[in-house]
Amino acid sequence: MSADIIDGNAIAGKIRAELKIRAENLAQHGMQSGLAVILVGDDPASCIYVRNKAKACRESGIRSEVYNFPGETSQETVLQHIHALNANPEIHGILVQLPLPPHFESHRVIAAIAIEKDVDGFHPCNVGALATGNALFYPCTPYGVMMMLKERDVLIEGQHAVVVGRSNIVGKPISLMLLERGATVTICTSKTRILAEHTRNADILVVATGKPRMITADMVKSGATVIDVGINRMDDGTLCGDVDFTSVKEKAGHITPVPGGVGPMTITMLMSNAIEAAERARAAM
Ligand code: GUN
Repeated sequence: MSADIIDGNAIAGKIRAELKIRAENLAQHGMQSGLAVILVGDDPASCIYVRNKAKACRESGIRSEVYNFPGETSQETVLQHIHALNANPEIHGILVQLPLPPHFESHRVIAAIAIEKDVDGFHPCNVGALATGNALFYPCTPYGVMMMLKERDVLIEGQHAVVVGRSNIVGKPISLMLLERGATVTICTSKTRILAEHTRNADILVVATGKPRMITADMVKSGATVIDVGINRMDDGTLCGDVDFTSVKEKAGHITPVPGGVGPMTITMLMSNAIEAAERARAAM
């Protein structure tokens, strides 16, 4: 039987409607969430992401400020800008679009963001807080994945979750979040020996490797929930995930498509973190 397809656009739409109400609530108290987005250079994918984030802000009642620095800007200049944004009471969230140009030390730039404005959840203090079960902000993509599992009432406690990918943005944080919820978590990489032996044991399989269609039906347990975080542009211009959707959907219980799966959830959870940051700032007044 064909899997239930988890429609990221539909779930994101529901969450966005709730966020709009929260933004209106803030407005009634004379407040608007403000999100600063810093982009260094002109990487085409990053430019598209930033444009989409600014559009989502407009639709969600969030004021966004985009700072696009030339690629040769010094790290010191960007750090000074972050310090100014940290001190600006009208800015509740700060996001530095990654990757930064090679002459930057990304960890130093991220560490300069005030933790209460770190809506990406990438600051080392927030990563530590996530690891100890006290996250201030969940990183947006893993947060979106957890919301998709929640929407479909997917059982997490006691289940075997296998994560393929070890990035700071997806693989590591989603592993911690599933562990926090009581899953038995195995973390693999695209280079794990006999990867299929691990993936075939997964009740929940999360794939974030950037390798087009690397997970095939023979690597998936019947009835498993398969979450595909990959977005790969193919030579013919089409998009595909890290999972071979056509074959795996005949075996999985639930599956996310690409496009239209995890992608729309990431920006939505960024909007959620930005509203949350403003609500906390108001509560602290
Ligand atoms: N680059 C790719 N994904 C992300 C993300 O979630 N946040 C930031 N800041 N940069 C990214």
